Amino acid sequence: MTETTQELRARIDGLMRQYYENYYRKDLSLRDWRERIESRLNEEQTFAEPNIRRVENWMGIDFAGQRVLIVGAGTGAESVVLHQRGAEVHGIEPYNKAMEIVYLKADQHNIPRERFQQAVAEKIPHPDESFDFVYCYTVLEHVQDVTASIDEMLRVCKTGGLVYIQTPEYRFPYEGHYKIKRVPFSPRWLTGLQLMVSGRSTAFLRTVNFVTAPQLNRIFLDRNVLTIRTEPDWLRIWEPVRKQNPLQYWFAKTFGFGREQYIFLRKLGPAG
Ligand SMILES: C[S@@+](CC[C@H](N)C(=O)[O-])C[C@H]1O[C@@H](n2cnc3c(N)ncnc32)[C@H](O)[C@@H]1O
Repeated sequence: MTETTQELRARIDGLMRQYYENYYRKDLSLRDWRERIESRLNEEQTFAEPNIRRVENWMGIDFAGQRVLIVGAGTGAESVVLHQRGAEVHGIEPYNKAMEIVYLKADQHNIPRERFQQAVAEKIPHPDESFDFVYCYTVLEHVQDVTASIDEMLRVCKTGGLVYIQTPEYRFPYEGHYKIKRVPFSPRWLTGLQLMVSGRSTAFLRTVNFVTAPQLNRIFLDRNVLTIRTEPDWLRIWEPVRKQNPLQYWFAKTFGFGREQYIFLRKLGPAG
């Protein structure tokens, strides 16, 4: 007997609950893990839609008809939204529990399952020059090898195409996974110590690359790319929460960078 649409939705919701309980409760010990799971059940609307809309507005992109690769597809929200925009979406994701959900969401939205592969950013299973747009959102801080991942994303991107990287800025006094304030410009071990003092697990932190803009710019400098950063945007986004974060706001205004990096790399041809 084939599964009904409602049964499929219920199965996806059940797997999403397990997946995000593991992440928000066990890995990160966030107090509001329950609310976060509920919000994740509708992650296409709560997360992916506003993020993709910002990319469209910033770069004047229409994804319809574009070949897009999602690197670190997670539980599939970005894939679904970009598919609904009319893109030909492909994805890679190394974690099998996430892939299980991605496949079910592919079924739910009539996206061929073969478009998704269990793979890592360091070794993308696609030929050179395959995609108009490579979308990498909150993934670079989790890969094993940052430089190899950037090189692979550029390799599979068409000349003239874009690689979009959103990742934290670890010079900033905030850790976005654990949602804690941290000492600015400090190394990972100090944030780990801070977590230990407050009785929280540091296992997940040890897997995070503390990437910074100068570190990434040093990589981009040696590649044939035009680097576009959307620095000013966070100031507008933060306007309503300025009062709640006066120190972070002061820091951002003083040092000229925010807690996240939004980077577009346009792959240039031989003429540069
Ligand atoms: C914070 S999640 C982001 C998922 C998705 N982009 C989103 O915003 O919902 C990070 C994802 O990167 C994946 N990941 C970890 N290491 C990776 C690697 N080496 N290559 C590609 N993806 C990786 C994780 O399994 C996880 O699904």
